[in-house]
Amino acid sequence: MPYISQRFIDDIPNQIDIVDLISKRLPLKKTGSDYRAPCPFHGGKNSNFAVNSHKQFYHCFKCGESGGAISFIQKFDNLDFVEAIETIASEFGLNIEYDSNTKPIDPRLERYRALSQKIGDFYMQQLRSSPAKEKAVSYAKNRGISGEIAKRFELGFATPSKNDLLLAFEKDEQATIDLKLLGLIKTGEYGDYDFFRDRLMFPIHNSKGNVIAFGGRAFDNKAKAKYLNSSESAIFFKSRELYGLYHARKYSRSMDYILVVEGYMDVVSLHQAGVTKVVATLGTATTPDHLQILARTTNTIVFCFDGDNAGRAAAWKALKVTLPMIKAGLLVKFLFLPDGEDPDTLVKKESAKVFENRIDKAHTLSKFLFDHVKSEVDFDTIEGKTLFLEKVTPLIGQVNYEIYQQQLIEGVAQVVGQSIDQVKIIFKQQEKQVQTTSFDAVPVIDNEPPMSDFSDFSDDYQAPSPKPQENSAVKALMSRMISLLLNYPFIAHDNDTVEVRVGALKKIDKKFKVLLDLVHTAEMVENVTQEELLKPFKNKPGVYNRLQQLRTLVPYLSENEANNEFLDALLKVERQQSKTQSLLIKDEKEYVKSLQSRRGKKN
Ligand code: UTP
Ligand code: MN
Repeated sequence: MPYISQRFIDDIPNQIDIVDLISKRLPLKKTGSDYRAPCPFHGGKNSNFAVNSHKQFYHCFKCGESGGAISFIQKFDNLDFVEAIETIASEFGLNIEYDSNTKPIDPRLERYRALSQKIGDFYMQQLRSSPAKEKAVSYAKNRGISGEIAKRFELGFATPSKNDLLLAFEKDEQATIDLKLLGLIKTGEYGDYDFFRDRLMFPIHNSKGNVIAFGGRAFDNKAKAKYLNSSESAIFFKSRELYGLYHARKYSRSMDYILVVEGYMDVVSLHQAGVTKVVATLGTATTPDHLQILARTTNTIVFCFDGDNAGRAAAWKALKVTLPMIKAGLLVKFLFLPDGEDPDTLVKKESAKVFENRIDKAHTLSKFLFDHVKSEVDFDTIEGKTLFLEKVTPLIGQVNYEIYQQQLIEGVAQVVGQSIDQVKIIFKQQEKQVQTTSFDAVPVIDNEPPMSDFSDFSDDYQAPSPKPQENSAVKALMSRMISLLLNYPFIAHDNDTVEVRVGALKKIDKKFKVLLDLVHTAEMVENVTQEELLKPFKNKPGVYNRLQQLRTLVPYLSENEANNEFLDALLKVERQQSKTQSLLIKDEKEYVKSLQSRRGKKN
């Protein structure tokens, strides 16, 4: 079983604020330089219990209990050391680092991060002392960025010169190689040159505060690309990073909501105005990874978009990504700004307070969902209402959180003025249509199958023959389970029922058989290594290669997270299969009935 790395443990006080952590559990009140509350450990009414943000320490002046974040959670939540760290990591969205044989930490990553920090320092230095700095300084000033905020975000300056960055690092051979790998130095016809030139530089930090990439804003709006961004690298995946997340955590007292905006400048300007619970995607649409990170950090995600058509389209995309990910306790809202405004321009026109009022009044997901679909049909006609139902039900079908799904169905009933039962019938019919289509494509066969082509495990691993349109959701879930199991084999070892449950699944794809084999090995061998898990597949190159890919697809998760995710996926596959199964029976019955009635007519 992997151990949590000491460095990660030591770094927790830098990653989180103990005041945030404790204020979720106690009614802390600011008193002088401390936060105070009645002591949870010895009881009593007086505020003897003090929390100090600066020292990241708590202390009760009466009973003498004291310590840091981990020890507080251990005592207060009654957890062991590892559980306490997992709790903290999940509340603050930190990825736990493990020391383990199965997850070696690649030394190059550390080197890239250290180099990125140095590059950031270099750009920052240029903003202070380059002879050409005036342009950058006045640009920042004109956009209302104070010295303090520039420092907070470590803003920098890439000079107009062809290769100032290259020159600064040219004596360091390794750094020069790495700079090219990170895409910061390009090689052209006339030699090497800096990728970012003549730009205001925004370093992108990961959630721990390491610089991992850059964005650069042209000074001239007519520039070919207004923003350039670092290319993706071993330390930078756009779909998983959020600009400003580190700063939001560091500079906000609580994380009761997070505003998701579109631009670097929006984040910076909002901080300037005092609105700090804000992040931006990095020139990409919101991804499921983003949502997962956000959901670990806050209970309320507020997406903020321009009020124009492009903004609405982007919001709609975000909504569709969100639907399957809604879970108990998570609220997702949509804030639309007046046409032509973005948070940066708006917060400069109106006070932070007025802007925060807008956040408070953001639309619920359901309102946006209904409004948007309504706007796509001629709602005042019967046909329009029918179309509305046709469009909205499959979307609601995406929601995995059942209570919420029921509420949405009730919402639809209200919107169209029909009874809940009527809407439920339509919903079921729609679901059935989707199911039967995929069912037709996925014959359930139990006996040994003929060979057939597989997009995935492309060799002689025998499995029943699925058609190409095989239910992609189940496929994705199977891949995910395999990834998780390869990285966290204890899941099968520690859960007595996993093997039986996987064994009971209908083997509609060779993945099911592969998963079962993996589960079996993991169940039998305690502390099985990845090597041992993969060994039986070595003579099946197709499967083996695919497993190698799946092996790398899992980020660091806590044991709890890995376990929950695996069991969750398993449950979904089971549900999916039982749905198709009962539909089969129902379809058969209907078929027989119609056959009988047709025959009856003939006779
Ligand atoms: P916007 O075009 O909305 O710009 O791009 P902005 O944030 O309002 O920028 P300012 O106020 O003009 O400085 C939003 C985000 O899209 C990405 C960037 O991440 C930007 O912050 N983007 C935009 C690019 O990557 N490249 C571009 O050329 C433009
Ligand atoms: Mn802008």
